[in-house]
Amino acid sequence: TKDWNGIDKVVLRNPGGASARVSLHGGQVTSWRNEQGEELLFTSSKAIFKPPKAVRGGIPICFPQFGYCGSLEQHGFARNKIWTIDENPPPLSPSDSHGKSFIDLLLKPSEEDLKCWPHSFEFRLRVSLAADGSLMLISRVRNVNGKPFSFSFAYHTYLSVSDISEVRIEGLETLDYLDNICQKERFTEQGDAITFEAEVDRVYLSTPNVVAVLDHERKRTYVIRKEGLPDVVVWNPWEKKSKSLVDFGDDEYKQMLCVDGAAIEKPVTLKPGEEWTGRQELSVVPSTFCSEHLDLQSNG
Ligand code: BG6
Repeated sequence: TKDWNGIDKVVLRNPGGASARVSLHGGQVTSWRNEQGEELLFTSSKAIFKPPKAVRGGIPICFPQFGYCGSLEQHGFARNKIWTIDENPPPLSPSDSHGKSFIDLLLKPSEEDLKCWPHSFEFRLRVSLAADGSLMLISRVRNVNGKPFSFSFAYHTYLSVSDISEVRIEGLETLDYLDNICQKERFTEQGDAITFEAEVDRVYLSTPNVVAVLDHERKRTYVIRKEGLPDVVVWNPWEKKSKSLVDFGDDEYKQMLCVDGAAIEKPVTLKPGEEWTGRQELSVVPSTFCSEHLDLQSNG
């Protein structure tokens, strides 16, 4: 299928009717719907669907740099590139056989990319949709260079929420975080679940493998399970910052929350020939499901 501006996109569907849409622009998941057809990811009504700008919403891939913590553009170049489809992907391994419906996208550096980041890599992104509608993203980055290189990474996941004031995150209590609003100063979270009443732009460190985002009004809980991604970014621009973002509506901060599985504080280093894998699985359970059922304690 063709996207709005002629860029290819791929739609995955499961037998129950859940779906996910992946754009070759950025290798970005731009839609994820449950069996009732409800959209679970936020996309701004002002999003610009044209490179070189990443689409405001869905799940942009931040690679090989998160934020401005290096010499590259904010969040690195991967989200602004046109990825290719691997027509002949390796089969699902038993540990990945999470869904029957999957697509592999590839990104390799162009001559231009090598000028600003001189490291040859191959990035394979597998997006798969399970029979139960959960969405799995598996990123594999291989060093095909003669020298080691390091990178940071995030799945910048824009969750759609009913009203940010009704949302809380469980699983990040008592953890240390770097605050991007205060010059990356380090703080420690209090014991309560995280709620929102102002701009939040944080990187939580050494987080558990499972984090839950509870949307009280919609009676819906997003469960984020991850591997190889020790950090969690939490971002909501709130009122003032929203107005400064050209591709974001003034009031849209109420309907979204970014919660990203990430590797930021300690960049990943790959020696020649080595490969790194980072997985993030998103699923939805009704809020009546007690969060004690989730193993929020195991460290990732
Ligand atoms: C967050 C950063 O994760 O992403 C913020 O910490 C940034 O500082 C936000 O504003 C959105 O970034 P961008 O480049 O997509 O506007």
